[in-house]
Amino acid sequence: VKYDTRDEVFVAGARAWLEEIHESDITSFSWVLAHSPGYYPSTLRDLWLEELQRRTLAATHEPVGPVAAASLPVGHPLDYDWRFTEGARSTLLACLDQTTIAGEAIAYLGTPTLFAQAVSSVGDRRHVLVDANGPMVEALQAGIGANRAIQLRLGVEPPPPALAVDAAVLDPPWYPGDTLDFMEAASAMVRPGGVVLLSQPTLATRPGVQAERADLVATSGQLGFKLERTLGSGLRYVTPHFERMSLTAEEPGFPVSDDWRTGDLLVFRRTSSEARTLPRRTRADSESWREVSFGPVRMKLRGAGAGDLLKVDEGLDRLVTVSRRDPARDRVGFWTSGNRVRTLQSVEAVGSLVAMCENDLVHMTFTHSRTRLQAAQFGLDHRVADDLFEILLLEYQEHVAGGYGDLA
Ligand SMILES: C[S@@+](CC[C@H](N)C(=O)[O-])C[C@H]1O[C@@H](n2cnc3c(N)ncnc32)[C@H](O)[C@@H]1O
Repeated sequence: VKYDTRDEVFVAGARAWLEEIHESDITSFSWVLAHSPGYYPSTLRDLWLEELQRRTLAATHEPVGPVAAASLPVGHPLDYDWRFTEGARSTLLACLDQTTIAGEAIAYLGTPTLFAQAVSSVGDRRHVLVDANGPMVEALQAGIGANRAIQLRLGVEPPPPALAVDAAVLDPPWYPGDTLDFMEAASAMVRPGGVVLLSQPTLATRPGVQAERADLVATSGQLGFKLERTLGSGLRYVTPHFERMSLTAEEPGFPVSDDWRTGDLLVFRRTSSEARTLPRRTRADSESWREVSFGPVRMKLRGAGAGDLLKVDEGLDRLVTVSRRDPARDRVGFWTSGNRVRTLQSVEAVGSLVAMCENDLVHMTFTHSRTRLQAAQFGLDHRVADDLFEILLLEYQEHVAGGYGDLA
């Protein structure tokens, strides 16, 4: 389901953008995706095909690009884990270099990869990360060996007390409520005169961004921040494994480039000296999930939908969008880092069974018959054991193929 194509004005904007592209470039989908201001690839692809038809042009045949390897834990859709490209990290580090001086402190809210690079390459500033992603924070703590990475869910838990910084970089999930949670936390930390660098969706990301942006700037004013400048499409993201899997599930062989997603960089200055808060808001996505893993594969579990490991909707193996507005999400209780989704009721039993399977994987004894035997110990029937075995095997292979198989 493509929610953005239901908005006629948004679609007209995308068509107008495509119409402007020169004939020598329009036949290459890679070119169009690489220069797009952020349209979702499968939406862009449909409109691009229409545009080729209108101009009676044929598409250029292109090879699919290589996938990115990663040494950090694979991203999970529930963490909205879109990581910066090297270029985006350089842009942000250059901004921090201009706006802070030696000895000053910088907070990284939801920006773990930037934090990791800053810690290793900008030794004369102090750096602190606040992020909700447990496995990511643990991996960074293990690498850095200090408590400068704090695991905390902003908007649900209060920001760390007495954390005063001179600048902050924020990359919240791209929804207005989450962005305000992050801005409110920054308001409690950043000193007057300090800078906040915030990543936000471009106007092409989805319909309604323009109105959201106006609200954000107004509410940030109430929090004591003044927007100084906006760098349109100033940041780029590496296509995460879950998004690649969604796009190729929708259309096998879909030519997903490594860095099609782009974001606007907003630069705010703290103008007020008092910490300010906003009226309490209801949170859209505050359910608690338990996390388990199988080698590089991450799975989030909660009780939702009817039965164990059943399809959430007829024929639906993976979510084909990563949108929070997808109504199927309410019935998801088992969600992999490959964006495969199922219902789940026996959270404890399935969680324990996955832990046993992971132990078997490490000891090279992971087999179908052992999974069935162990399932019986937890009161789970053969069908659940069979389905889990198949999912774990498939996911493992897909993660390894995507460059996430390093268990060392
Ligand atoms: C869009 S990703 C940004 C990652 C960043 N681009 C990078 O490369 O470092 C969002 C990040 O915010 C974190 N996050 C999401 N919701 C959060 C919350 N409520 N509090 C703290 N961190 C959160 C996620 O774990 C994830 O690391």
